Amino acid sequence: MLNIINKIKDLKKAKNAVVLAHCYQNIEIDEAADFVGDSLYLSQMAAATDADIIVFAGVYFMAQTAKILSPNKKVLLPRTESGCLMADMINAQQLREFKSKHPGVPVVCYVNSTAEVKAECDICCTSSNAVKIVKSLNVPKVLFVPDTYLGKWVQEQTGVEVITYPGFCPTHLRIRPEDVDSAREKYPGALVLAHPECHREVWCKADFTGSTTQIMDFATRSDAKKFIIATEKGVVERLQRDCPDKEFILIKDDIICPNMKWHTLPDILAALENEQHEITVDTQTAAKARTTIERML
Ligand code: 13P
Ligand code: SF4
Repeated sequence: MLNIINKIKDLKKAKNAVVLAHCYQNIEIDEAADFVGDSLYLSQMAAATDADIIVFAGVYFMAQTAKILSPNKKVLLPRTESGCLMADMINAQQLREFKSKHPGVPVVCYVNSTAEVKAECDICCTSSNAVKIVKSLNVPKVLFVPDTYLGKWVQEQTGVEVITYPGFCPTHLRIRPEDVDSAREKYPGALVLAHPECHREVWCKADFTGSTTQIMDFATRSDAKKFIIATEKGVVERLQRDCPDKEFILIKDDIICPNMKWHTLPDILAALENEQHEITVDTQTAAKARTTIERML
């Protein structure tokens, strides 16, 4: 393993490359990564880096976003199977039909969407800034795609009417409200931290709701010692590594995003060595999608 990590580090130097990793990735990838974080942080890093090559250990829409923000860089996705089920729940045609039912209402897209969808929306958001972005529009009503649960979360936090598209994250929806109750019973006194992609009833029962980074920041700063985590397993593993004096419990065993787990260290090495699995976005779509993402940034 160390050998592979060292090879990746050498290649990064030789090729002026960076590795960006989402915090749902297999944890050993952090050893080879330059930046690890949530979608907002990674898109900011993708926009800011002056590297020639970005290797994206994340899902397809994240690599696509990096390419849109850095069109002159080579963006590589080590395993092309790494899609996002939620992002694939709406395409441009479905978006147009949705918009046509609500003419004149601004459209906010979650960054978990394809470039063609972003290209036809007004502004992008991630789970860490969705509330801020919707408030900033200063309008009474917005359309929100594709995640219906994050949209509902935003509506409750802002008072803005949020008309949501019926998309969802299958991984987060596996967490049921009853799981919160049974975890609280099993671990009395533990705080429950949830991602807004969960069912409304889950985040209503939680002590804190936020993006992956917001959950990690909250747990790191909190005086509490025990936490029940209602998001992907990678967050629990990183918290346990970084805060060994605290205890982190994944709310349920199978809260794993299979698409995030495709990439391995050998895949990252192969992507860098062969400069393979390059992500491209057609120029017109990219230009429109860039405006939507840059408004957010
Ligand atoms: P974050 O915006 O919290 O990184 O979430 C991305 C994601 O895909 C959650 O399922
Ligand atoms: Fe997509 Fe859900 Fe996986 Fe996030 S956890 S990448 S929303 S499928």
